[in-house]
Amino acid sequence: MPLMHWSPNLSVGIEFMDTEHEQLMGAINELHEQLSSGQQERLAATLNELLRQTREHFEHEESIMRKHDYRHFEQHKRLHDALLEELEEFRDRTGKQGKHPGTELSDFLKDWLLEHILESDKHLGGFLEGAGARL
Ligand SMILES: [Fe+2]
Ligand SMILES: [Fe+2]
Repeated sequence: MPLMHWSPNLSVGIEFMDTEHEQLMGAINELHEQLSSGQQERLAATLNELLRQTREHFEHEESIMRKHDYRHFEQHKRLHDALLEELEEFRDRTGKQGKHPGTELSDFLKDWLLEHILESDKHLGGFLEGAGARL
């Protein structure tokens, strides 16, 4: 069963952000599936792909924040950077340990993403809508 799915109450009002959030949820679901079923072969590749997708999404948000002089840019970027660091750390740790981790990471990512969307990204989305941002 998928760990998470997108629903309209998660919309931040900006199409590219919603689309990418939904894609991120798909990647987290895939990771969760592998973590909960004990499949290890593809774990490193899945983690790398999740990192790539996350980095790309954060870069999109950050470039639009810069473009529109978003006042909370630094604060928002700090949250992004901290998550990337956690993800990288987890990937490196998993690679070294060689033993299968539990679903701790996907559970954590689910909570992180939901909270981040509902607070920080919704705030950003509201600002961009108000600024009549052309995306
Ligand atoms: Fe986001
Ligand atoms: Fe964000």
